[in-house]
Amino acid sequence: MQYPKYRPRRLRTNTLIRKLVREEHLSVNDLIMPLFVRPGSGLKLEIPSMPGNYQFSVDTLVEEVRELANLGIPGVILFGIPQKKDELGSEAYADDGIIQKAIRAIKNKISNILVITDVCMCEYTNHGHCGFVTKDEKTGEHQVDNDETLKLLSREALSHANAGVDIVAPSDMMDGRVDAIRNILDENGFEGIPIMSYAAKYASAFYGPFRDAAESPPSFGDRKSYQMDPANSREALREVSLDIDEGADIVMVKPALPYLDIIRLIKDTFEHPVAAYNVSGEFSMVKAAHEKGWIDEKAVALESLIGMKRAGADIILTYWAKDAARWLKECAI
Ligand code: PBG
Repeated sequence: MQYPKYRPRRLRTNTLIRKLVREEHLSVNDLIMPLFVRPGSGLKLEIPSMPGNYQFSVDTLVEEVRELANLGIPGVILFGIPQKKDELGSEAYADDGIIQKAIRAIKNKISNILVITDVCMCEYTNHGHCGFVTKDEKTGEHQVDNDETLKLLSREALSHANAGVDIVAPSDMMDGRVDAIRNILDENGFEGIPIMSYAAKYASAFYGPFRDAAESPPSFGDRKSYQMDPANSREALREVSLDIDEGADIVMVKPALPYLDIIRLIKDTFEHPVAAYNVSGEFSMVKAAHEKGWIDEKAVALESLIGMKRAGADIILTYWAKDAARWLKECAI
């Protein structure tokens, strides 16, 4: 019998067979939705650079979180825009700060969703840096004081814990912050609160739209002294390994799409759950191209998210979480 030289790829030709042999699955259980909260009431202000995302006040935030919980999304991560920014970012650790109020309000009303908080100073400081800034008298150069910042971050994490947070996520990239936060939580009876550390966080241009959303661009300099060089992968292993030694429970890679190799590397090297942060720029450029009619947002978003899963992400923080939860109900990709 004469066979054709090239046989058809039988496992690809039938939808049901494709389903049967599919290696990766995206599920609503993988997703965390980032949300922004600001003082006021009745607010739902669309963020111009991130269509479909809003700055909520606490009351409207609770309603949004209820919807997300009803869609089956397991968690939200909160970012705060404070009433007042100052040198020491004091609203970050104030008992009646915006995030503390938001945690209490959600926890009061909704029990079937995790509240995660971003622990960082950049949204709360008037200079927009992620920590305590000092100025070198001789050179006039500004520097973030690592160890002073640890004190502020620990206070911030503790105040979130006091308000009822489920997981804290330090995103500042200071050295020793996981250790400092673990210690203060344990000393205060919060041994059960896990730490999801932004372990491999790159100095990325993809954070641009977020800085509009959180009103947190640095007023001078950049974040290159404490965020990682995009050219480095071995450094990511070192950062993750240090965070794990200090007690991180989940390690994150951020951004996601330009760093899929880093996600895979970390997944293969450590046993800890890996989170990927599909950041604002990755989201907004797809939205913009979709609005121009150049690409199909839903298809591109789902392809990107499954790509992150394939790279090894166990958890994906994404501005598409709500849409994806709905899309996944319509059809499994
Ligand atoms: C810092 C923080 C940032 C993001 C999450 N946490 C901004 C930054 O490091 O400059 C960016 C997330 C995004 O772009 O979606 N608190």
